[in-house]
Amino acid sequence: MKEIIINASGIHKSYGTLEVLKGVDLQVNKGEVVSIAGASGAGKTTLLHIIGTLDRCDSGVVEIGGVNVFKYNDKRLSDFRNKSIGFVFQFHHLLPEFTALENVCIPAFIARKSKKQAEKEARELLGLMGLLEREEHKPGELSGGEQQRVAVARALINKPEVVLADEPSGNLDSENSEELHKLFFSLRKELNQTFVIVTHNKELAKMADRKITLHDGYIVK
Ligand SMILES: Nc1ncnc2c1ncn2[C@@H]1O[C@H](COP(=O)(O)OP(=O)(O)OP(=O)(O)O)[C@@H](O)[C@H]1O
Ligand SMILES: [Mg+2]
Repeated sequence: MKEIIINASGIHKSYGTLEVLKGVDLQVNKGEVVSIAGASGAGKTTLLHIIGTLDRCDSGVVEIGGVNVFKYNDKRLSDFRNKSIGFVFQFHHLLPEFTALENVCIPAFIARKSKKQAEKEARELLGLMGLLEREEHKPGELSGGEQQRVAVARALINKPEVVLADEPSGNLDSENSEELHKLFFSLRKELNQTFVIVTHNKELAKMADRKITLHDGYIVK
């Protein structure tokens, strides 16, 4: 039986007179990898932010793991986001003063896990990313590919229901991109992790279970 983990329906979003999303419906199953393509300005980031509860839509419903997220107030929503949604951005957004291990631990600390527990889980993830030897490195002491893998570990630490990625390999060379893309699929295999990935990368879109395209405010098949 397939389990729907993301159910977005009738999503509308405008900025002033600019209608960006005109009624977007998207359902994603647990363990599915979905890629989103579309021209610059088509609303990909806008949609990802709404699914990720970073932004509210004007109308429509977003359910993550059966939870109607926008019924929550801001405080509950940020708790929910911390535990249920992992983000990977084009630029890693790691905190420069903290080590790789500390950066991965931060969402776990926010979720009030103990230091011991957080570090144990962070080390497991860094191991999975092939980064155990780098745990004491600060972001500035890591390569671009390594920084992005630390960001993936940070996205996974609270075992989120979904990982949302916005051009995750947009800033990487082709070799590091390929490695990152393979990592997403091995995480899907090992953890049954669900991914929604905005990407212009044709290889990654080809690897995805499903590729959707945003055009003129709608999903076009
Ligand atoms: N906060 C905002 N206020 C006003 N307009 C915005 C805002 N955020 C986005 N927009 C506009 O909404 C449209 C969609 O933006 P969005 O960032 O979702 O595009 P995108 O598909 O992610 O593009 P890209 O591929 O360039 O990242 C754009 O025309 C953008 O200028
Ligand atoms: Mg964007």
